[in-house]
This record gives sequence, C-alpha cells and structure tokens, in this order.
Amino acid sequence: MSILAEHFQQLSALLHHTRGDWQQTPFSCRELPWPELTPMLMALNETQIDALDENEAAALAWLAPQRPDTVAAHHLRLPELERAPDYATPRWSNGIGGRKWAQIKDFAANVTLEHPILEWCAGKGHLGRLLAQQGAASVTSLEWNADLCAQGEQLAQQLDLNHQFHCADALDSHTSCLFQPQQLAVALHACGELHLRFLRQAAQAGTQQLALSPCCYHLISGDRYQPLSVAGQQQDLQLDRHSLRLPLQQQVTGGERVRRLRHIELSWRLAFDELQQQITGQARYLPLPAFPKRLLSGDFADFARWACTQKGLAIPESIDSQHWLALAEQRRLLVKRIELIRHRYRYLLELWLLLDRALFLEEQGYRVTLGTFTAVSNTPRRYLLQATRS
Ligand SMILES: C[S@@+](CC[C@H](N)C(=O)[O-])C[C@H]1O[C@@H](n2cnc3c(N)ncnc32)[C@H](O)[C@@H]1O
Repeated sequence: MSILAEHFQQLSALLHHTRGDWQQTPFSCRELPWPELTPMLMALNETQIDALDENEAAALAWLAPQRPDTVAAHHLRLPELERAPDYATPRWSNGIGGRKWAQIKDFAANVTLEHPILEWCAGKGHLGRLLAQQGAASVTSLEWNADLCAQGEQLAQQLDLNHQFHCADALDSHTSCLFQPQQLAVALHACGELHLRFLRQAAQAGTQQLALSPCCYHLISGDRYQPLSVAGQQQDLQLDRHSLRLPLQQQVTGGERVRRLRHIELSWRLAFDELQQQITGQARYLPLPAFPKRLLSGDFADFARWACTQKGLAIPESIDSQHWLALAEQRRLLVKRIELIRHRYRYLLELWLLLDRALFLEEQGYRVTLGTFTAVSNTPRRYLLQATRS
C-alpha cells in the first residue's frame, strides 16, 4: 500500500466516526448537538469564539481533550513544493492582481516544459502564456468564455507566442480529443466537475504529466460526490454539497469591514429564516443562495422582500425588522458555536478529497505527489497534485 493510501485509510476511518461533528447543518439546529461539548462551547463569548475560529492552532488545542483523534489527524501536513524565485511582473502581466500573479508564478515553478501543454479552464490563459514565454513548445488553452479567449489570443499574438485557445465547454465530450499522451496537462483552480473531468480524460488518454490545483469541490453535476478512486468508493463518505463546501469556508482573515458584513449576513439569513417559517407554517430551514454583498447595504425589510421573491413566497405587507432580527440574534451564537467545531474538519475533508484524486491517479499507473504550491496568504486553495505516468 502506498503512503498516500495509508493516510487515506486512517483519515477515512476518522471521518466516518466523527461524521456527527462535521456533517451538522448549523442553520437547521435549535440546540447544540453535542452534550459533551456543550459546557466548553457555552463558556465562550462571541469574541472568544471569533478569536479561536481564526486561530487554528489555538482552536485545536482547545478541542484536544474532547477530540484527540481529530486533532492528531492534523499532524498529517502536506509538503511545501517549489516556489518561484521572484514575483517581478513583466509588462504583459499588467492587470493581474499581485496575489494572482504570485499563484501563477508559483504554479509554473513546479512544472517542467518537456511536452506541449494543455491548459484546462484557462480564463485569459495567464498561466499558459507564462509557460509559453518560459519556453514551452506549444500551449493550447481551453476556456468556454469567448471574451476571455479573444483577450488571451490577442496577448499571445502581441507577444508572438505559440499559444492557441480552444473555445469550448470542458464538459462537452469532444474535448477528450484535446488530451494526448505526450503532453503536460495543467489546471489552475478548476472547479469540481471540471477538474474531475480533467483527471478522468487525462488518465484515459495516458497523458504523460499532470498538474492540478483543485477548487470548488461542491460544484459537481450530481447531488452527492462519487469518489474517483477505488479506495474512495470503498470508504465513501457520501458527501453532499453542504459537506463539500466545508473546505472552502476557510477565510483569509478579512479586515473590520469584511467581519461586519459577515455578521450582518448571518443575522439577516437567520432573521429571514424565522420570517419564512412563519409565512410557510413549516418549522424547516429554507436555505438562500449566495448573493451579492450590496444586498446587505440596504435595510433588512428590503432584503427580506428580495429573499421572499427568490423563494417564491408571498411578500408580507409589513415586515417588523426588529422582531425578526431579535429572533435571529438568539440563533446566531448557536450557529457560530457549531461552526467552531465543524471548521476543525475543513482541512481533513479537503485532504480526503485530494487523496481520493491522488489515489485515482495511482490506480491509473501514475506516480503522484501532493503538496502546497503557494503561500496561504496568496490563496487558501493552494494544493497541487502532480502526476507522471510511470
Ligand atoms: C476559477 S477560474 C480559473 C481561471 C484560470 N485557470 C486562473 O487560475 O486564472 C475558472 C475558469 O473556468 C472557466 N469555465 C467554467 N466552466 C467552464 C466550462 N464548462 N468549460 C470551460 N471553461 C469553463 C471559467 O470561465 C473560468 O475562466
């Protein structure tokens, strides 16, 4: 058994028996779901909850007496991979943000340019362009947004690079013909189904080298995650989208404004939930989709009207904001206390998802390495899966 497979077995066992911790849906809870954790959670005020939640080491030390195995599993850290020697910006990189540029440079520092390159879900093809400039024989960037393709093509022409765009839906079956055996296929921040497709098609074509940094694990075509590897299918955690979102809840700590907006969003979502339960007469949580932050700059009554429309509910004639916000306030700390426990599984769940992808590639005859390719201050989505056909 490979070392990655051993880690996967241990982690699967832990995640199976701690399911009651990470699978909770805090917005549906009316009380804390863990009697043994209740005293220590209730002893924390909001400032203490926030401080612990933002400090992983402190939060794990606090949890260790009750959940020693969960805390011990965090010792499984992934190695730091190569980093770019510098982040100096060439003229053509104008318009790429500093942190994005650092991610691209760090990703590029981890690949060798022996083969033609396929760049999957490329955006404007910044990574592909850098690799073409660094000496790749040819780069083909797949992207479905025609504007981004046109901008990328224009930049490639200006720089006289052998860099083409293929404007198509990555999920369309014909894109399988883009994968070749003698090739390096790269994907920087390709979302769920898109990177799953990338891995399957590359493996099927026998593509020599792969480098993938996954993101948005929850953006899959079905309701539940179907593990890629045989090992994953045997240890299936039956992950739904709510659980698949957990690894993405890691926030790069924002400033005061970000904190304030998060506070308003949580209060308003809960206040709307109280209101909708009264309108529908059903004591059941009704989730709202993600929405633009500008909706939080008006008042709660306007937000509630927007939310009623979203959910196809009759808009009440008058909305007593104070009443609904007061009810939400009682639930807000409960949600935060439950999230404080759930967040201690963010890394472990992401690791499980990464290992499932890595084991799939091992099963397909690849040598695989897994590590971090860039600093966490550049992006929390910083894991890189590299595979070479043996
Ligand atoms: C998170 S961005 C990453 C872009 C680029 N790799 C980067 O890191 O800057 C994901 C890209 O995938 C593209 N995309 C989304 N769905 C797609 C699909 N079905 N087919 C092709 N491209 C898609 C989006 O337009 C977007 O440019």
